[in-house]
Amino acid sequence: MRPVASQSKIYETGPSTTARSARHEWVFTQPGMPGSVACHDGDMEAVNLDAMLARFAEHWSPKKIAQVNDYDVRIVKIQGEFTWHRHADTDEFFLVLDGQLTIQMRDGNVVLAPRELFVVPRGVEHCPRADTETAVLLFEPSTVINTGDAGGELTAEVEELA
Ligand code: NI
Repeated sequence: MRPVASQSKIYETGPSTTARSARHEWVFTQPGMPGSVACHDGDMEAVNLDAMLARFAEHWSPKKIAQVNDYDVRIVKIQGEFTWHRHADTDEFFLVLDGQLTIQMRDGNVVLAPRELFVVPRGVEHCPRADTETAVLLFEPSTVINTGDAGGELTAEVEELA
């Protein structure tokens, strides 16, 4: 008989079986049988991008919303032109959530719409620009400073939202 999925619970009739992968474990069992493992909905909290974006208004001030090993997931709202800079030690990942981002580089520009991403290779000079307010998700080492080697007024402390 095929397992029947309801929410996060998966049951099948007959003895319980366990499927394993490197990071996840699914337990297939009949309710009440020995070996059944309770699944609780809602115990873990999702990070909601819209909710996080609603918590700040300022431009060019990245907010940390998650950490992945020694990388930060950051979101930032931008409008206008940033400053030309480079990151000598790391690539920099940009994913547009809303608006339109132009990443100017010396060899040419890339224009990103929502759900489009681009990785600026390490050492490549770049200058983000957005003609209307644009929201961007960044994925980069926690040590990365937004203005890279340029410094200056636009250098921002990264505030943690989550
Ligand atoms: Ni940069």
